[in-house]
Amino acid sequence: MAAEKMAMRGISKSFGNVKALSGIDFSLGRGEVHTLMGENGAGKSTLMKILVGLCRADAGEIRVDGEPIRLSAPREALDHGIAMIHQELYPVLDMTVADNIFLGREIRRPGFGRLNLVDVRAENAKAALLLAEMGLDAAPTARMRDLSVAETQLVEIIKALSQGAGIIVMDEPTSAITERETERLFFHIGRLKKAGVSIIYISHKMNEIFRISDRVTVLRDGCLVDSRPAAELDPESLVRLMVGREIEDVYPGRGRIAPGEPLLTVRGLSDGRKFHDVSFTLRRGEILGVAGLMGAGRTEMAECLFGLRPKSAGEVAVRGNVRDIRSPRDAIACGMALISDDRKQKGLNLAGTVGENIGLLGLRSFCRRGVISRKLEQAAVDSHMSRLGVRAESSGTPVAALSGGNQQKAVLAKWLLAEPEIMIFDEPTRGIDVGAKHEIYLLMNELAARGKAILMISSEMNEIIGMSDRVIVLADGELAGELGRDGLTQEAIMALASHL
Ligand SMILES: Nc1ncnc2c1ncn2[C@@H]1O[C@H](COP(=O)(O)OP(=O)(O)OP(=O)(O)O)[C@@H](O)[C@H]1O
Ligand SMILES: [Mg+2]
Repeated sequence: MAAEKMAMRGISKSFGNVKALSGIDFSLGRGEVHTLMGENGAGKSTLMKILVGLCRADAGEIRVDGEPIRLSAPREALDHGIAMIHQELYPVLDMTVADNIFLGREIRRPGFGRLNLVDVRAENAKAALLLAEMGLDAAPTARMRDLSVAETQLVEIIKALSQGAGIIVMDEPTSAITERETERLFFHIGRLKKAGVSIIYISHKMNEIFRISDRVTVLRDGCLVDSRPAAELDPESLVRLMVGREIEDVYPGRGRIAPGEPLLTVRGLSDGRKFHDVSFTLRRGEILGVAGLMGAGRTEMAECLFGLRPKSAGEVAVRGNVRDIRSPRDAIACGMALISDDRKQKGLNLAGTVGENIGLLGLRSFCRRGVISRKLEQAAVDSHMSRLGVRAESSGTPVAALSGGNQQKAVLAKWLLAEPEIMIFDEPTRGIDVGAKHEIYLLMNELAARGKAILMISSEMNEIIGMSDRVIVLADGELAGELGRDGLTQEAIMALASHL
């Protein structure tokens, strides 16, 4: 094995009654890619937050280059050459891309005495180089708020790389980027490895893990299950280590029933910016996949359908009646739901408890003679939490304390409880572990079988192919084509998505 760069020994951490980590040993070789796996809530992010000083361990020690280190702030981690790209990105939205990259280590202009002004020009020029090197098409002067989730993530990656860190932690870096962008990231990981940089990689995507990992460590319920060279593992054995049981087929089969009447008819819809002239029909009982590359306009289209973004042209009919949907309230009144891919900004009330978040939209169905039945609400919330495997101490836990994947499950549970007729899922299983993915697919099938109509935007090719009855493909904001079950192959989708 490569020379040891970093070692964590006997790391333990509790949050109240939750034992998030129990005596974990984790080490990292120089130039090694060490992948950390485990179900949602297993303790992966917590272990890494301890490594970068964002969270203090109750017990255990950390050594870097053989020397014990003590961290009390993330800035100190950087002094030891450790950087982290977070699962939940925390960019300062009003900053420019360059400001964000150089945050805390601004380039100063010489010769201004004690004033030491920031050399904006130099920062922009250097940022432009870094952006180009990463192949990211964004201006250094662009505001962080105007970047997509994927672009933001790439900027964070650039930031870590430019800090010259010897250890980079990547917490689900590819959960929001397309295959092409993932390839680009892997290319950079390969370069970093060669340069002796060590990488800790967290991901739920099985295929990635086997491509880039030298070693894999599996956590379950805060305990170390196993740590092995990737070459000694295969996907089946890895899933078994993670969930403690076999999963036959992640994509459950579904008896294809003839779809019913149109529930949503979209004609020539445009927002005048990101997508143009999109038409399709979504029928009762079907799952219509929406494929396309990042930036193809899929999320924007969903937001427009849901009244979050104004339309500039076109017509939307719900159950055959043309409706003017101008706000999410209008959309919900039409029986629509949008399960967003951006849970922090649109999906959850972070100040509330898990139960309050999940129960929010189902309130009407808990009413008996105009009074909310807390008992009915509690029962419904509990059943959805256990069905989706939302791991929280109780429904009274603040939703902000949940792991990333468990927050995503809470968003899903919330909408499932509301029982809308038309459900738009935007990247429904992003950041969700394999076991829970299977449950979500079963639920989607069940919803379709019960006569709901599902529009599923996904960048995961397997998910699109495994779950859709039909697929429409968007490219550069336009409808590039439609594929039925029979012609549904990765090649056919890619050809349409990239205008081949
Ligand atoms: N600030 C906190 N307060 C209370 N509990 C917390 C806090 N942070 C994490 N936890 C709990 O610790 C456990 C481990 O969470 P962690 O975020 O490390 O999981 P994870 O393995 O990264 O999961 P995911 O795959 O969903 O990202 C979970 O039960 C979580 O609810
Ligand atoms: Mg996590």
